[in-house]
Amino acid sequence: MSLKSGLMQNCNFKKIEVGLAPDSYPILIGQGGINNLGLLLQSISFPRKISIISNERVFTLYGETVVHSLESSGFTPTVMLIGDGEEYKTLTTLISVYDRFVADGMDRSCGVVALGGGVVGDLAGYAAASYMRGIAVAQVPTTLLAQVDSSVGGKTAVNHPQGKNIIGAFHQPKLVCIDVDLLKTLADREYFSGLAEVVKYGVIRDSDFFEWLIAHCDALKNRDPEPLEYAIMTSCQIKADIVEIDEKETGLRAILNFGHTFGHAVETLTGYNRYLHGEAVAIGMAVASKISARQGLCSEQDVAALLSLLQRFNLPVVPPDLTTEAYVAAMMHDKKVKEGRLQMVLNRGIGQSEIVDIAEPLLLLKSVFQPC
Ligand code: NAD
Ligand code: GLY
Repeated sequence: MSLKSGLMQNCNFKKIEVGLAPDSYPILIGQGGINNLGLLLQSISFPRKISIISNERVFTLYGETVVHSLESSGFTPTVMLIGDGEEYKTLTTLISVYDRFVADGMDRSCGVVALGGGVVGDLAGYAAASYMRGIAVAQVPTTLLAQVDSSVGGKTAVNHPQGKNIIGAFHQPKLVCIDVDLLKTLADREYFSGLAEVVKYGVIRDSDFFEWLIAHCDALKNRDPEPLEYAIMTSCQIKADIVEIDEKETGLRAILNFGHTFGHAVETLTGYNRYLHGEAVAIGMAVASKISARQGLCSEQDVAALLSLLQRFNLPVVPPDLTTEAYVAAMMHDKKVKEGRLQMVLNRGIGQSEIVDIAEPLLLLKSVFQPC
């Protein structure tokens, strides 16, 4: 029995393979994953010399376990902590990471472990993508949003003062280690925000999963480990399937942005400090589904089912009271605007989705806002 299969059986990990040869990698999901991180990285021949990038909050909770696990398996980790929050996902922080890599003598044979939520994962991923033209990175996501979305698929970035994620690269990790236990310490609001992205997968790609979420809503709200693990695994599988078809987002991958066009407008117009990302996406999904109904792509019952599920997960569904003109102006700055034409991801019923040109965004938005 190979180390990997022995380890997989002993620790009861579920495995999803992201098939992107020659850059394929496993996503391992289970309880207690970080205790075995050293063995897992050893089994994929990850570089011995490692820079762990994290923040103080996460490292205080889980750093010792991760360092112990790595050292026990013969790795030599150093630790670099960055500021906690979106405001630290910047070029300034990135330069401090490069400075530290250089000071620590990191070369192309070294690796990075990103231990944290999406902010740490995106920044550490981009540091790894760009340092010496690319070094290995392993993602150890610690928020629900990072476990179901940002750690998978290789999008890495930092923000520019003029826009989120403007400076970035596709750089697939060598391993994603998802330890469901880490979510026990996550604040309620962050947890529910992550559930918005889970709901998204059901709406865009899998009606059975959407029904399953309705049936297991209370268990998920209680963070029961088994359903939570299933929800994370299904979300990662859906994302992996999409990324395998369209790694660089030339087409299909854009459906992962369901709810994001309007959601980003909400975030921009409220200064990025009123809503968490998933909360803004929940509002965006509610608006997108109403547009879908208006376009005849889904029924009013589909819209009601989505709104009800989001609300049961304590997520907002009503946009803040701003003018439609302001929303349209903000939406026109979306990355999906092509040659001045707005595109949105709309749901076809529940379980399918498509990218649609929006010819008259102002009229359309006004028509869906009226009944609110
Ligand atoms: P985050 O990384 O800021 O984490 C949220 C908060 O939770 C932070 O204060 C963090 O310190 C804390 N935290 C993290 N893990 C914890 C734990 N286990 N216990 C207690 N506290 C914990 O936010 P996020 O929602 O994880 O990520 C948001 C970022 O992800 C954004 O920058 C967004 O652009 C990015 N993102 C990237 C992708 C992608 O495909 N790369 C996809 C979606 C979002
Ligand atoms: N979060 C969207 C994507 O990874 O494409």
